[in-house]
This record gives sequence, C-alpha cells and structure tokens, in this order.
Amino acid sequence: MREGEARAADLLDWYDAGARDLPWRVPPGSDRCPDPYGVWLSEVMLQQTTVAAVKAYWLRFTTRWPDVHALADAPDADVMGAWAGLGYYARARNLLACARIVSRDRGGRFPDTEDGLRALPGIGAYTAAAIASIAFGRRAVVVDGNVERVMARLRCIDAPLPGARPLLRAAADALTPDWRPGDYAQAVMDLGATICTPRSPSCLLCPWRGGCAAHAAGRAADLPTKAPRKAKPRRRGYVYVARRQGDWLLERRPTRGLLGGTLGFPTSDWAEDPLPAPPFAADWRRAGEAEHGFTHFALTLTVMVADLPAGANPDRGHVGPLEPPDLPTLFRKVHAVAAAINPADGS
Ligand code: ADE
Repeated sequence: MREGEARAADLLDWYDAGARDLPWRVPPGSDRCPDPYGVWLSEVMLQQTTVAAVKAYWLRFTTRWPDVHALADAPDADVMGAWAGLGYYARARNLLACARIVSRDRGGRFPDTEDGLRALPGIGAYTAAAIASIAFGRRAVVVDGNVERVMARLRCIDAPLPGARPLLRAAADALTPDWRPGDYAQAVMDLGATICTPRSPSCLLCPWRGGCAAHAAGRAADLPTKAPRKAKPRRRGYVYVARRQGDWLLERRPTRGLLGGTLGFPTSDWAEDPLPAPPFAADWRRAGEAEHGFTHFALTLTVMVADLPAGANPDRGHVGPLEPPDLPTLFRKVHAVAAAINPADGS
C-alpha cells in the first residue's frame, strides 16, 4: 500500500468507529449514497456556517420542502424567511436559482460530476467536489478551511495562507483514495472539526498522529500560518425602526447588494460618514447602536425609533406583526436595541 493509501485507510477506520451523526448523512460504509438534494442543501448551508448552526435549518428546510421540486416552487419570500439568521444571503438566492434550474430544466436530477455541478448557481469548486464525492461516490479532492489546516499540519507546510493553497491542495490530492470517496471527504471534515481544531488540537486522539510532521515537530497548534490581515474598515449608517401599537414597519431590501432580498428596517446608506436618511417625517429618537461584522467591513448602525399614532400608514414598507426569527441577524440586533426603548406614549 502507498503511504497515502495507508493514511486514508487509517482515517476511514477512525470514521467507521465514530462518525458524527448528522441528519444529511448515511452511516459510514453504507452501500447507498445519500439523497443529492439533501447533500446539496447541507453543503450550501455549511459554506461559512458551522454544523451546529446548520442542523436545525436543514431539518426545517427538508421538512417544509422535501425535494428539489418543492423548493423550486416555493415563493422567494418564504425561502428568504426560512434562511434568515444563516447569513450570506446571496447563498439563499443562489439556492433558489439552482433549485429552479434542477427542477425545471433537469427533471429534478442534479448533475453527477464536478464540472456539471460547478455550472449551477452557488456551487463553487469546494461544494462541487463535496457533492460529487458524497452524493455520487466520485473521487474528488475536497478542500475547505478544515482540510487546509489538516494538510498544513500533517505535512508541516509552513508557507502562509492564502499563498500555500496550491501546495495544500496537492497534499490533499495525494491522500484522497479511489475507494469510499464520500466517507473519506467527510472523515477529513470530521477530523478538522473535532480533533485537528484551530487552537488546541487533540493530537493524542488523532488517527494520523503517527505520521503527522507538525506533531512530531511540536508545531501542530501553530499551523497553518496566515499572511497578516488588514484591519476591516468600519462603515456606519442609520436604521429607522417605526412602531405602531405593537406592530413594526419592515421593508424588503433590493435583491442586489448586501442582505439582498431579506426583510429589514429602512436604513441610510452605509458609509464612512453617512448622512441621516429618515424614510419619512416622524418623531425619531436615538435608541442606541447595533454592531455587525460582514466579511469585508464592520458596520455600526445608529438605531432611531419612532412611535407612529394609531391609523398612521406610511407610504413606505409595511406595518405589521414581527417575528424576529424571520429577520437577518443584523436586524434582529437592531430590533433588540429598539425593543428596549419604551413607546413614546407609554402604551
Ligand atoms: N462541513 C462541510 N460539509 C460537511 C459535511 N458534509 N460533514 C461535516 N462537515 C461539513
């Protein structure tokens, strides 16, 4: 057996003994692959989000929309609402676009190759490789942040990320076996998530400890190295929360742009030095600030609250009951700041 094959076999033994029980998985060693719809949904949800956060969303989506046709037929607003809180809302818009192509143009069948999968909205190199291996049993080199960390340690690769990516990918390719590709991909993910963790890896429990170059050098916790990151710029803005006797004014954000297509409170532009931009004249009071981190910048919103008289009906947005879970996290934070302020009339 080549060194790589022996490693893969060790990892698969470890996976067989203790694979995480996740709702979209089949047990290790199954002779059938899991449903591609469920795998695709889990992989899109897991882009940028943890397994712990995704489980409940995945179960809710598959209960409400059990197959790709059901999801394709769902109104956009329902899917955006069900996605609320998972973040990176372009993923939800691409999810729907992808479901509609698969349902309407492909009779509900997902492509079974990496190239075919990559041609669909919202499916990049990582996701295509993960779906091809897990749902279709194809050998594919699956590389995400977890896998990069595991490879950097196993082979003690010092070069900093992101420049080291091609080296790490080559290391992953050399280890990926021809057999049980889906189990292997998920085994490396489990190893990265549970043993070979970013800060204090549990090397004593690791099935790859014996061959791990970074462990031998006492350097596992220090790898991978990263090129220094620039501090995120900060943007600011104003957000306007209008209330009317227990109801709240919300509007749907434009489809393009950040938080596109989600429900939220009206805001000004987000900029270094924004101007206030109340959506209509009212007695706006400052309630506090809400902070949120986006990928490329940090945002501070000044939360302005106005209590509208009974019967007032502004010509912007829609006043009605509010379920905070239907809002993206930024607007849940805004809601919490506003809700801490008593109505102006004390009612
Ligand atoms: N992270 C991304 N995809 C995953 C999967 N299928 N299992 C566990 N963790 C993952």
